[in-house]
Amino acid sequence: RADTRAILLEINKAAAQYYYVQLKSSQGAVGLGYFKKRQLSDETIKAFGLGYSNKYSDDLYRYLKSKGYKDDMIAKAGLISIDEKNGVYDKFWNRVMFPIMDVNSRVIGFGGRVMGDAKPKYLNSPETMVFDKSRNLYGLNRARRTKKPYFLLCEGYMDVISLHQAGFTNAVASLGTALTPGHAALIRRYVQEVYLTYDSDGAGTRAALRAMPILRDAGITAKIIRMEPYKDPDEFIKNLGAEKFEERIASARNVFMYSLEVLEKEYDMNSPEGKTEFMKETARRLTQFEEEIERNNYIEAVAKAYHVGFEDLRKLVGKMAVQAG
Ligand code: GTP
Ligand code: MN
Ligand code: MN
Ligand code: MN
Ligand code: MN
Repeated sequence: RADTRAILLEINKAAAQYYYVQLKSSQGAVGLGYFKKRQLSDETIKAFGLGYSNKYSDDLYRYLKSKGYKDDMIAKAGLISIDEKNGVYDKFWNRVMFPIMDVNSRVIGFGGRVMGDAKPKYLNSPETMVFDKSRNLYGLNRARRTKKPYFLLCEGYMDVISLHQAGFTNAVASLGTALTPGHAALIRRYVQEVYLTYDSDGAGTRAALRAMPILRDAGITAKIIRMEPYKDPDEFIKNLGAEKFEERIASARNVFMYSLEVLEKEYDMNSPEGKTEFMKETARRLTQFEEEIERNNYIEAVAKAYHVGFEDLRKLVGKMAVQAG
């Protein structure tokens, strides 16, 4: 109900304020130290409302009770667990906290990171009446104000924060989940182009390939930014700085061409058989472009990149389209 939603938003806001105050208290020194070690400025910490959840596992619960909120509402906000044996305890404790805001900067949930190597590395609020992970993006409340015609789409909270701190205020991330059509529709309200800056590992590459058709179906053009030799934008920026990142944006590649580079690794490109099989699979993939002009543009790009004749490839694509029905 509408009033329950309003109360859950109030509770989340109060929790974010509490975590922020704790970060600046003596108890939170460990959390503040962690953020400093990761080179976040006080200004950045404030802008993103970063915080700390105390070691004692019912501090937030007692604080929210003292503000008059009832157990069932605090539980509905996803901030406590109620256990018959152990009683009530906070979901987040001894973690640095990332409040997750909706596009209007209302706190709707949290991500909490351990400061060491314990598992899970990140704990996220469960979905609640006000927190739908598939319809919100981390950093969008700030990125929406960008003057650039594109967003940088990355994997993690720290990537978004590092990018914003380095001046790339158009960075957003999905909330520890794969990109959904809901995310793509949300992005499309603001920009028509996305630069994917996912992690350079296998999981990041696969996630980028899966994001590609979702973005395209929403009418968004996607390009890929390579992070090598670093793992993610946060590490890249820390090691090479904003200017080098800017260069990577300028040399970003078309997602389809990038997907072929990934595909190439499955074939022996030095043998005629291997290359033929690769071209067949490529032709099959080219059939996804239904618009003739677009398809021909891609055929031209592929023909050039792989040194095959435009007409030969065009015929092969036509044959594959017929086979696919
Ligand atoms: P840092 O190590 O702090 O730099 O984090 P990262 O963002 O580089 O982490 P990673 O690439 O491993 O994960 C990307 C995103 O996935 C995170 O920002 C989280 O939203 C989510 N994530 C990572 N680890 C976990 C986990 O253990 N559990 C859950 N639920 N989500 C996670
Ligand atoms: Mn959902
Ligand atoms: Mn990753
Ligand atoms: Mn990282
Ligand atoms: Mn990462």
